[in-house]
Order: sequence, then C-alpha cells, then structure tokens
Amino acid sequence: MTEPAPAEDGTVEFPDGFTWGASTAAYQVEGAWSADGKGPSVWDTFSHTPGKVRGGDTGDIACDCYHRYREDVALMASLGLNGYRFSVSWPRVQPGGRGPANPRGLDYYRALLDELGERGIAATVTLYHWDLPQELQDSGGWAVRDTAERFADYAAMVAGALGDRVTRWITLNEPQVVANNGYRTGVHAPGLRDPAAAAAAAHHLLLGHGLAAAALRDLGAEVGVTLDLHPVRVAGNGELDGVERGRLVTDAIVNGIYLEPVLHGRYPAHAPAGLLPPDALVAAGDLDIIGQPLDFLGVNYYSPVFVRAGDPADLRRNEVPARSGLPGVVEYRPGHLERTPMSWLVDASGLYDLLMDLSKQAPGLPLYITENGRAAEDYVSPEGEVNDVERVRYLHTHLAAAARAVRDGAALAGYFVWSLLDNFEWSWGYQKRFGIVFVDFGTQRRIPKASARFYSGVVRANAVPPLPAAWPR
Ligand code: FCB
Repeated sequence: MTEPAPAEDGTVEFPDGFTWGASTAAYQVEGAWSADGKGPSVWDTFSHTPGKVRGGDTGDIACDCYHRYREDVALMASLGLNGYRFSVSWPRVQPGGRGPANPRGLDYYRALLDELGERGIAATVTLYHWDLPQELQDSGGWAVRDTAERFADYAAMVAGALGDRVTRWITLNEPQVVANNGYRTGVHAPGLRDPAAAAAAAHHLLLGHGLAAAALRDLGAEVGVTLDLHPVRVAGNGELDGVERGRLVTDAIVNGIYLEPVLHGRYPAHAPAGLLPPDALVAAGDLDIIGQPLDFLGVNYYSPVFVRAGDPADLRRNEVPARSGLPGVVEYRPGHLERTPMSWLVDASGLYDLLMDLSKQAPGLPLYITENGRAAEDYVSPEGEVNDVERVRYLHTHLAAAARAVRDGAALAGYFVWSLLDNFEWSWGYQKRFGIVFVDFGTQRRIPKASARFYSGVVRANAVPPLPAAWPR
C-alpha cells in the first residue's frame, strides 16, 4: 500500500485497493424472524418480552432485508461501494444451534452473496452478531463451554456452504458488549445480571472465536474478529499516580480483556479479578487457541473514555462512576465534546490514536474499521430529503483521522460505515437512526441521506475532500 498524500487543496487520498463498505447485522435488518424454518434467537425472546426494548419494538420485520436484499445491494452498487459487511443469523441456518443445517436459511445467504458477487461487492461475513439460538441459551448460553464448541461447528458448516463466495470472515462482533450488556447489566439479550456468568461468557466467547477461526483456516478467505475499542484518556491531573492506574485498569476492562487474549494470548495484568474468568474455566491450551495469528483485526470505533481525579462518592458535573472502582478516580465526559442522541461523545482524534496504538501492539496486522458512525435526529424534509449534516461532519472528521493514521503508518485496509440502513438499534428499538440511508419503517421506502452522497463521493475518489467552508464545523 502506498501512503496517502494531502493534495494542495487539502484532499487526503487512501491507498489503492482500499475496501469501502457499509455494515449491517442480521437481527437489526433482516426481519422474517420465523420464516422458512428459522429458529428463535435470544433477541427474538428478549424483544418479545414486555419492557425490554423501547416502545416494545422488535426485529420481527426490521428493514425486511430478507425480502428486499436485491434492492439494497443495488443501492450499495449505486453508491459505488466495493464491500458489504453483514452477519449470518445462526438460528436461521441452524435453528437450534446444533444438528443439521436449515437449507432454506442457507439459500437466503447464497442468494445475497450471488447478488453481491454480480455487482462486484466483496462480502465480509460476521458469524455472530449477538443472535444466539434460544435453545443454546436454554442450556446455559455463553456461560457454558459447550456453546464455544457449538459455535465452531456452526462456523464450519457455514464455511462449507458459503465459503466459495466469501472474501473475509469475522468470527464475533464485540464480545465485550455480549458479556457486559447481555450477562452483567442485562440491557441486552439474554438480559442476565450475573457477574460470574459474565466473566465465564467472556472466556467462552473468546474460545469460540479461536475454535471458529481454526475451523475457517485454509479456505482461502481472510479470518479475523471484530472488537469494540475505546481509547482511554486522562483528563486533567494525569500526573497523579492514582489516575494513571485508573486509566490502566479502565483500559483493561473496556479493551484489554478481549484485545490482549486475541493479540497476545494472555489476559491483561490490570484487569480486576472479578471480571476475569476463574482459573478453573481456562483449560490448558485455551489461550493459545484464542491467540492464534489472525489475518486482520476488525475495529469498531465510536467513542473514547476519559478518566480523571475525583471523588466517586461526590460526583461533579459531567462525571460518572468509574468502571475501575478505584478510589480517587472517576470517569468524565468533557463538556466541550459533542454528544450524539445515544449520549456518545464525538471525538475523531480517538480513532487516530486507536489505529496508531494498534499498529504498535500488532505491527503489520491489517486493520479494518468494521463500524464507525453516529446516531442523529434525522427526518425527511418537505422536499423529501434527509439533510443529516451532523453525520456528514462526523464521517468527514473520522475519515480524515483514518487517513492521517494511514499516512503515519497504520495498516488500515478498509472502512465500513455503520450503517447502510436505519435499523433496529437493540434496546433502543427504531428510535435511534444510524443509517446513511433513511428507512421509512411504515412503507420500507429507502431514502439515501446527504451522508450517503458524501460517502459515495469519498468512495469514488478514494479520498476525503476538504469540507466546504460553508459547512458547520
Ligand atoms: C455496535 C453494534 C452495532 C450497532 C452499533 C451502533 O455496538 O455492533 O450492531 O448497534 O453499535
């Protein structure tokens, strides 16, 4: 790859062969929740349980991509994308999570992959984006080791059926979120609040990744995993020892428990013992399986985390209790940074730092940004347009940060915007819109937003243009 050079007008170019894509996930977009032999997933159960998802929303219909995939692939082609990241719904292709395949489920993905192939769009396929077959949950879910083994079997089955059409496999999406939101705080399916189960789930997810990666080897496709990563920064009195320790512990909690086993085959030294799997769960050889060499790392970036000196028992404005649980340290949300409707901080420099840090930790390992984007209060104007200026600005600053990281040596090979379409945003339901394409959920009409036009321009030029002076910054 050649380094991008800023042109005289401020344009920054990306290397030749760069992958430009969009991401979705099965439960968030497919709908058809019980069609053609699909089994229920933990997300079907969770969203059908009153009080779990805002407004009682479910993924029963979602964006109806199960029936509208041709239209959506055509849309991607019209934007000039050369990559699509989607996930396979495990219970669609293996309804109970073990045993024979559901041929009609596999047919759907074959048809989608063929459509992509005809349009020259390379497929990046995530095997697990959170929709565990309910039957496996009934036998303990990720808290039990058997689920990791079932996952490897499922991976081998999908690879056997679809492998000739897939460019890149991602084993898991964001195991951190599964363990913490699904098993510790319970805001995601399966809705458990069980710290011991969460620590066990973390290990079994990682083991599942390793076993599946081994099963996917030798197919000729790239194999990796996607982690949500959050640079942890010190605000204010960083020189205080306690604050630096708070940063290290927070980094271990939000990143290290997943990143270090995958990159280095070990759990992080600074992680609090209660968050790590007990020794009895970690069998000899597990960490070698988890830490086997990968072809790439998928990075989902949304926000950094800040820590600063403070009193957890007497929080000040913009302070929140710290995950580290250490005395004298709080988490902090700087008031000068913009927040999205998810309350997530907007900070493009975090993406630059993250890519540079990963390049140091794993020199030469190709990186893909597999998700990046923001929620916004989008609406259709009387002229029928969606002018999502906040998202355009967000994409612009983050793509420019990514380009700077490439210039400074990061092995970034591709970028997938989250998301192609507005979709079912987990426990927020349809309230939060992340798409570059607006979805009218009443009619399923798709309306490309201003950000889709902006992104398409970047993709076609393989470069980030300077923002017009008239744009709000
Ligand atoms: C990530 C998820 C993705 C989407 C975005 C907004 O954590 O992987 O499915 O919900 O957040």
